Amino acid sequence: MRVLILNGSPKKVSDTMQLTNAFLEGLNEVGDNEVEIIHVIEKKIKPCLGCFGCWRNGDGKCVMQDDQNEILEKYQQADLIIWSFPLYCFGIPSHLKAVLDRMIPLVRMKMEERDGVVYHTQLADFERMKHVVICGAGFPQSDRNFEGVSVTCDKCFSNCTKIFVPETPLMNVPEWKDLADRKRGFFREAGREYYRKGRLALETMEKLEELMIPNEEYLEIVNRQ
Ligand SMILES: Cc1cc2nc3c(=O)[nH]c(=O)nc-3n(C[C@H](O)[C@H](O)[C@H](O)COP(=O)(O)O)c2cc1C
Repeated sequence: MRVLILNGSPKKVSDTMQLTNAFLEGLNEVGDNEVEIIHVIEKKIKPCLGCFGCWRNGDGKCVMQDDQNEILEKYQQADLIIWSFPLYCFGIPSHLKAVLDRMIPLVRMKMEERDGVVYHTQLADFERMKHVVICGAGFPQSDRNFEGVSVTCDKCFSNCTKIFVPETPLMNVPEWKDLADRKRGFFREAGREYYRKGRLALETMEKLEELMIPNEEYLEIVNRQ
């Protein structure tokens, strides 16, 4: 598989990438993959200007001259795109959101209705592509924390497996290494499963998304700082 990882954490040592790297290890244990990781924060990606120049040209490219067109090309060549990012204000971090907004050259203005839902018609072959979203977050179990980002993923990504992980700052605390290793182990196993089956079983998802420590204990640790 050609795997493209879009790392949306701006940090040198990302909590979320610990999980994504473990997932990738699993994928690579069973498959012969060609992998590219793009650290989005290092790219020059301006916000979308809403000019619709891409739709007028209809060539699948953005009219702005920065790093986005290179990402659009790699994105279309990939079989699997992994969106790895921390949850920011219940959504996608702005620098990665700019990449997503500027994917509109890959659809056309023309709309169509399928099963009662209106979509833009596609320029890229989205049916062929698979998406995995790995989103880390600082809150423990928290009401509606991932709700917004979940809708965005459903609407924007074809064939999407969404993995929402609470308490990810624990992935980089030496004191909690055992718990982090256990979580990494689940992600490695999930990578293997995903390569073989193209999806993850409910039991697997539960392990990936479960709290590493109970709410109360987590709050106590955070509030000790
Ligand atoms: C600007 C900002 C906004 C954040 N918003 C949320 C949020 O809405 N919900 C949440 O659970 N965590 C939030 N967090 C915490 C991060 O998601 C968390 O620290 C995550 O582990 C960072 O992952 P990374 O190391 O991969 O960047 C926020 C952090 C920052 C810096």
